[in-house]
Amino acid sequence: MPIRTTIAALKDHVGGQVTLCGWLYNSRDSGKLAFLQVRDGTGICQCVIEKNDRTEPFYENARKLPQESSLRVTGTVVTSEKARGGYEVHVTDFACVHAAHDYPITPKPHGIDFLMKHRHLWFRSQRQWIILRVRATLIDAIRRFFNDNGFVLIDTPIFSPAAGEGTSTLFSVDYFGEPVYLAQTGQLYLESACMAHGKVYCFGPTFRAEKSKTRRHLTEFWMVEPEIAFASLDDLIAVAEDFICSVVERVLTDHRNDLIELGRDVTPLERIKKPFARLKLEQAAEILRGPRTRELLENDLREKSAELERLTKLIDDGEAKLKGSLKKWEHEKLVHEVHNARELRADLEEQIPNIPHHIELAANFKWPSDLGGSDETVISRLHDGPVFCTHYPKEVKAFYMRLDRSDPRVVENFDLLAPEGFGEIIGGSAREEDLDTLIGRIHEDGLPQQPYEWYLDLRRYGSVPHGGFGLGVERTLAWLCGLKHIRETIPYARMMGKVYP
Ligand code: 4AD
Repeated sequence: MPIRTTIAALKDHVGGQVTLCGWLYNSRDSGKLAFLQVRDGTGICQCVIEKNDRTEPFYENARKLPQESSLRVTGTVVTSEKARGGYEVHVTDFACVHAAHDYPITPKPHGIDFLMKHRHLWFRSQRQWIILRVRATLIDAIRRFFNDNGFVLIDTPIFSPAAGEGTSTLFSVDYFGEPVYLAQTGQLYLESACMAHGKVYCFGPTFRAEKSKTRRHLTEFWMVEPEIAFASLDDLIAVAEDFICSVVERVLTDHRNDLIELGRDVTPLERIKKPFARLKLEQAAEILRGPRTRELLENDLREKSAELERLTKLIDDGEAKLKGSLKKWEHEKLVHEVHNARELRADLEEQIPNIPHHIELAANFKWPSDLGGSDETVISRLHDGPVFCTHYPKEVKAFYMRLDRSDPRVVENFDLLAPEGFGEIIGGSAREEDLDTLIGRIHEDGLPQQPYEWYLDLRRYGSVPHGGFGLGVERTLAWLCGLKHIRETIPYARMMGKVYP
């Protein structure tokens, strides 16, 4: 009797008879041999059918089966150095479960809009499959870090009567006739729980009505937020450092080959070691206004413009060649090359006109302001590893951040910028523990005091220095996988103008 198993477990069945249940990823045949690339959710495996008397009843059927049909194959497991995963199955029996017709995502290239509209099917493609598996590991690594280090999980509410992170990105919902908001953060609730448990964390979906269409912004994303009682800014930074080192190590251990398959150079990830660099915002501002930033960006402008020219030539030449007569494989290869070049060119066409603006923004960085996305990219590219940026002007930060007692222009906050230009993945701070100062900050921000009365109670009954931070799962995953855009890091991306499927 063949054993029902999975592709991931084939290594335990070499020489044995197994049955795999899955879908047809791709196929080709030589007239005598049919090569089926079968995926079953745990991996992809080549299943080979040799045309002979025994396979006659199903050989033709299998050979002509459309892409993404579901099937069952039975056969002998054989080691093969050439095969993906190291094993193939020599098929002795075959059954189609459901024949798919005209699967829309073919091996030919598709544009990103088309793929996003077919997200429910795009999941099945190898790259997307890898990315969501790395996501699952990252989430597991996050939970493990906090569970193993004495943090108690607290689930904070999603319906929220008050803003946590500024009023400009609130989604409002009708709550039995009262307006409430979808949570921008669990932090304020978490602060109350940390006064009960000492070290806590929440982990859930977070909502921001971000009206910009950038590579880094979703309107619904997942954030993990730890909160610690009796902690200073330095204590928080130390936890964030250990946390990042631990999740990077886990993802590298479990997914080194997957990351390489995505085209990710893993050496910069291997170099992630504490301590990370630290800069006060004032120092970051000096770097932005200085010659290194101008040089970096002017160099980008030159290199990207030259690359644009090269790609345009490649596309023009490729299109001319495609009009001529080519072998089928040559034609297919060239179609892919031209398609990729077009995507890269479209990216550059978007980026190049912004560079002079970024040079200008950096050169004129004035106090008090926040780092913009392009500023973060510069700071992170000018450092080898992650960078903590601290002590931002209080005007640009949330009301709850603790004023620096030695320089009340700034708050005791930190952002962690991921390396290689990926930018902010963590935002955190010490929290203002003094009741009167906090009430003053609420008023300065033009917020009503009443919805925060419960929060102010935490400063009335045993207030302590405390703080925490939030890490965005999708931005972190984009960095780990080396993805330019955040949209592929979440199963169903929600962005401005995008909520289907
Ligand atoms: O810096 P933020 O806004 O911090 C907070 O919400 C704090 N309450 C956290 C805390 O101290 N407990 O957001 C934290 C992180 C960012 O660094 C980023 O990784 C992610 O959340 N993030 C987003 N990710 C995707 N799309 C967006 N629109 C995001 N906004 C923030």
